[in-house]
Amino acid sequence: MPDNYTGYKMDTNNTNINFSEEALQLMHKIMRRYPEGRQKSAILPLLHIAQAESEGWLSAPVMDKVAEILKVQPIEVYEVASFYTMFNLKPVGKCVIEVCRTGPCWLLGAEDIVKFIERKLNIKEGETTADGMFTLKTVECLASCGSAPMMQVGEKYHEHLTCEKVDELLDDYRVNTNEHISHWAKDKIKA
Ligand code: FES
Repeated sequence: MPDNYTGYKMDTNNTNINFSEEALQLMHKIMRRYPEGRQKSAILPLLHIAQAESEGWLSAPVMDKVAEILKVQPIEVYEVASFYTMFNLKPVGKCVIEVCRTGPCWLLGAEDIVKFIERKLNIKEGETTADGMFTLKTVECLASCGSAPMMQVGEKYHEHLTCEKVDELLDDYRVNTNEHISHWAKDKIKA
């Protein structure tokens, strides 16, 4: 790092990023769990809340806003957000499908599940359907290996998958999904 490095310059144009009052209150409540000066420890739940408030993905201005709330450098937020697959750094569909691709799930047919979803939705892994309804991702072990193969949609696990089961699930999501499904459900923010 050069000697004259003075840190990443915060994007001051992020004033148009406004989280809901409920979200802000919850963020500050979570931050108060930590000693003064250690608020950075709240970064994961704050990013989940920010993502739930931002149509399921974290733009640079949204991450800058989280950095501003936590009083840390934006790069510290980017580092965390870009490490975990549960955070999306580009726009996603209302329904983000995360299929586990780790050993046990793979051995029990995760590859077939991924191929089936790709064919049914006419997208490849990492892509979003043209109607903005579905995004397909593959992720590492979600700690449900005994129920392999499995996938996660928002907070919900779908286990012991077969192509027939996935077919029904996707049809169901298509009919019943009105807004972005998040790891941190909106009603949990309001609670
Ligand atoms: S290997 Fe898929 S949940 Fe653990």
